[in-house]
Amino acid sequence: MPRKTASSQPTRPQAARPVDHDLYALVLENIDRAVIAVDQQGQVSLFNPTAEIFMERSARSSLGINYCELFAGQEIFLYLVDCVLREGRSITDDEGFSLQRPKGQPLPVNVHVAPIFSKSGHQDGAVMIIRDLTRARELEEALRRADRLSMLGTLAAGLAHEIKNPLGGIKGAAQLLTMELTDDSALQDYTRVMIREVDRINGIIEELMDLATPRPSVFSPVNLARLLNDTALLQQEAARGQNIEFTLKLDPSIPALQGDEQLLARLFLNLVKNAREAIKRNGRVIIETKISSEYHLTSPGSRPSPMVLIKVSDNGCGIAESELERIFTPYFTTKPQGTGLGLAICQKIVEDHRGFFQISSVPDTGTTVTISLPLRQ
Ligand SMILES: Nc1ncnc2c1ncn2[C@@H]1O[C@H](COP(=O)(O)OP(=O)(O)OP(=O)(O)O)[C@@H](O)[C@H]1O
Ligand SMILES: [Mg+2]
Repeated sequence: MPRKTASSQPTRPQAARPVDHDLYALVLENIDRAVIAVDQQGQVSLFNPTAEIFMERSARSSLGINYCELFAGQEIFLYLVDCVLREGRSITDDEGFSLQRPKGQPLPVNVHVAPIFSKSGHQDGAVMIIRDLTRARELEEALRRADRLSMLGTLAAGLAHEIKNPLGGIKGAAQLLTMELTDDSALQDYTRVMIREVDRINGIIEELMDLATPRPSVFSPVNLARLLNDTALLQQEAARGQNIEFTLKLDPSIPALQGDEQLLARLFLNLVKNAREAIKRNGRVIIETKISSEYHLTSPGSRPSPMVLIKVSDNGCGIAESELERIFTPYFTTKPQGTGLGLAICQKIVEDHRGFFQISSVPDTGTTVTISLPLRQ
């Protein structure tokens, strides 16, 4: 059972001005929390539009029924409303839990239930205010990932450093061997493989060291449309032999974005490459940009910056739910030639730009990666 805090009903000062009922109704219609009121017998007397969305049912089918029917099988909700109706005090659930819905996924929510008092001071029912915690949970997860990454990065950087020196020795010895052998010696094939594979390990280690101790970002105005066009062109080239359609839907009104051009190019390349690699033969990759209507980056002392959304979607193999948690972990890969560092690097670049990542994926249907980056730093 989630932890809760309870408080007794504070005495409310009498309103000095007449109540504007139209304004109250407008607030309830527009607020992004579900507001559900029940009378003292437990019958639903108010069900705002957000409640309709959260509960996936209409106000018409909910008004007048008992809350026990509305929240049938959802013990925590039943318990909270029951407590408030019986005891007349507010309860806030501090930890959050899942609201089960008839059609969609359970919704992570946080609930506050308060008694309603009539003008004469009698308890007249209870009101529940339900807040969607999906976004908060995503941010918590992003923070956890960042922590995990910085710990792994430090460890791996030390290890990479130790490996690089003996590797240099092996490559030097192989090169000497090449010189000692005659050009037509069959053994030259072996030395070539040794040198090539040492170079490959070196490449992986450099990527890793970059991840652990990246160079400081250099911010300048970046033309996002040009960068994404170039990325798509490069990947189109790499997709020869496959039948993949690349579509760009770029909002032309987006101004230059403050960012590190090299790092952003790497970010987009990794994302579009992943999208391409998820498609076996035929498919499509859509790259889309727009200004977010939901989020702004706020920093003390400066104007809030709009956020730009960059969405890369594919209709490839998708990601199994059990793997979604691990894809940002360095070295997690499902590809025979993959390093598993692509997304870990992307995550770092997005963080350096004070942006955030969202991934949604359905196995065998496709994946959408959305990056939100502030226009100004
Ligand atoms: N668009 C996508 N569709 C399906 N799976 C994906 C997608 N993007 C990432 N993944 C999964 O996440 C894993 C990790 O991705 P990441 O880019 O970090 O490494 P990688 O692609 O395997 O290797 P590398 O980036 O070095 O080539 C991939 O192996 C794949 O399983
Ligand atoms: Mg990759």
